[in-house]
Amino acid sequence: MDDKHKLVIIVGSVREGRFGPMVGSWVADQARTHGAFDVDIVDLARVEIPLALPAVPPKFAGADYPRPAGMAELTSALDGADAFIVVTPEYNHSYPASLKAAIDWHFTQWTAKPVAFVSYGGAAGGRHAVLHLENVLTELHAVTIRDGLAFPNYFTTWQEGRPLDPEASGYAKTLLDQLAWWAGALRSARETAPYPA
Ligand SMILES: Cc1cc2nc3c(=O)[nH]c(=O)nc-3n(C[C@H](O)[C@H](O)[C@H](O)COP(=O)(O)O)c2cc1C
Repeated sequence: MDDKHKLVIIVGSVREGRFGPMVGSWVADQARTHGAFDVDIVDLARVEIPLALPAVPPKFAGADYPRPAGMAELTSALDGADAFIVVTPEYNHSYPASLKAAIDWHFTQWTAKPVAFVSYGGAAGGRHAVLHLENVLTELHAVTIRDGLAFPNYFTTWQEGRPLDPEASGYAKTLLDQLAWWAGALRSARETAPYPA
């Protein structure tokens, strides 16, 4: 039996010329090297994410929620995940609308699962975005991981697809260690008893 945790890395920006996929790809390499995870990258630019939601909130509709066909792969990846890493830039001191829309189209997929954050941006390194994401994902009964990775001024601190900071892989390992611990603990808990949401 494969006892690795299923990790879904969500690339949150969909902007033309975006930097997000480079960060997502580096994080995926770190996660594969770490060894505790089966790694899947979900790029929101490839997902159909309408802003108009159906009448009934996803919380009450369950598996019958009428999602568009172009969202099926995303939903299935979120359903099967034991853990998430959200890769986010900072837009106007928050995170991109694409990410909020993807979150709002789902509900049970986040429940009692751990989420870690890797952010990038200007001086604050995307930390404002992460603060908002922590708030939103807590509402969805996810467990947010304390140690995130933030890359300030990524335009001068990354080269050839990776951060120049030699400590970055070490910080990533700390994040992944914590994420793996929570993924195991929460998977056992979900298997033992239904979460009282
Ligand atoms: C609409 C918009 C708002 C932005 N607001 C901020 C901001 O509040 N803080 C910041 O550090 N960077 C901000 N930026 C700069 C982004 O961090 C930078 O463009 C980054 O590359 C965006 O990520 P992406 O390339 O993956 O889309 C903003 C960029 C955009 C497009």
